[in-house]
Amino acid sequence: MKERLEALQAEALQELQGVAGPQELGELRVKYLGKKGALTEILRGMGALSAEERPVIGEVANRVRGAIEAVIEDKAEGYRRAETELRLRSETIDVTLPGSALPTGAVHPLNKVAQEIEDIFIGLGYTIAEGPEVETDYYNFEALNLPKNHPARDMQDSFYITDEILMRTQTSPVQIRAMKAMNGKSPLKVICPGKVYRRDDDDATHSFQFNQVEGLVVGKGIRMSDLKGTLLQFVQEMFGKQARIRLRPSFFPFTEPSAEVDVTCSQCGGSGCRMCKQTGWLEILGCGMVHPKVLEAGGYDPEEVTGFAFGMGIERIALLKYGIDDIRHFYANDLRFLSQFERM
Ligand code: DAH
Repeated sequence: MKERLEALQAEALQELQGVAGPQELGELRVKYLGKKGALTEILRGMGALSAEERPVIGEVANRVRGAIEAVIEDKAEGYRRAETELRLRSETIDVTLPGSALPTGAVHPLNKVAQEIEDIFIGLGYTIAEGPEVETDYYNFEALNLPKNHPARDMQDSFYITDEILMRTQTSPVQIRAMKAMNGKSPLKVICPGKVYRRDDDDATHSFQFNQVEGLVVGKGIRMSDLKGTLLQFVQEMFGKQARIRLRPSFFPFTEPSAEVDVTCSQCGGSGCRMCKQTGWLEILGCGMVHPKVLEAGGYDPEEVTGFAFGMGIERIALLKYGIDDIRHFYANDLRFLSQFERM
C-alpha cells in the first residue's frame, strides 16, 4: 500500500508539472484529492490493515496528500497572481491623457449686448432703472404726449389687457417713472433696459416681443450737442472707433426736435453693401430733446431744465454687431447658433 501511495504521488506530481491552466488544475485536484479521487480510493483499503501498519500507512498517506496539495496550492497561487497582474495592467489609468472637457453654458447674445450697452452707459455716469412690462395707458402713451386717438399710437400696435392697461410697447414709460422718482431734482441720467410687446407678425425683422434700452438725461442746460456726443461715444464703444453717426430729422411725440440715428455700416465700413442696401448707413435708434409736456408729466419745469432721450432695440444692435440676418435666431434656442457666442 505504501508503494501504491508513493506511486500515486509520483504520478500526480508529474501530471501537475504539465498542467495547462487553472481549469485543468481544478480537475487534477478532484482527480487526486477529491472525495471520489485516487487517494481516497487507495485509503479505502486501510480497513484491511493491521493495527501496527495503520498509523504507518496513515502517516505516508498524509505526507502524500500534503505533497500533492502543496504543489496544487503553489500553482493556484501562481495563476492568481498572474490574473491580478493582468487586471492591473488592463485597468491602469494614464493620468497624462487630456481630460474630457465639461461643456459650459454661454451668455445669450441679447443679454451680452444688453450688458455691453449697460456697461457703456454706466461708464458715462448713468444709473439703471426698470419699470413694469404690464403698463398703464397713461405711462405708455398719455404722459409721453400721446393722448388717446393720437394717430402716432398706430405706429405701435398694442396688446391691451383692459382699456387702460396694456403690455408696454416701448421702454419710454420708464422715463416718466424715473423722472417722478426724482421729485423735481436734477440732473437725472438713466438707462432703462427691458422687454416690450407689439402686435406684429413675427418675421426676419419683427417680433411680438423684443427688447429695448431707453436713455434719458434731464438737467440744466442739456443741449442737442450733448445728445449727439453721447451717441457717438456709445456707437464707437459698441461698434469700434471707426464708427460714425448721422442724425436724420424724424418725429416722435415725446421729443422735439426728434431724430433718427444711423451708424456707418459695420459690414462695409460705409462704402455700401447688401446689409446697408448700398447706402453705407444703418438705422440704429430714435432720439430727441425731451418734449416740454413730457418734462411736465415727469414733475419738471421745462423752463428750468431740458433733457434728451433715446431709445434703441437690443435685437437690432445685436443683428448689426454680429451680422445676423434673422431676428428669430435669438428666440429659437438653437445651440448651433448660441454656442458661436461663447467666447466673444
Ligand atoms: N420709443 C421709441 C420706439 O419704440 C424709440 C424712441 C425714440 C425712444 C425717440 C426715445 C426717443 O426715447 O427719444 O420706437
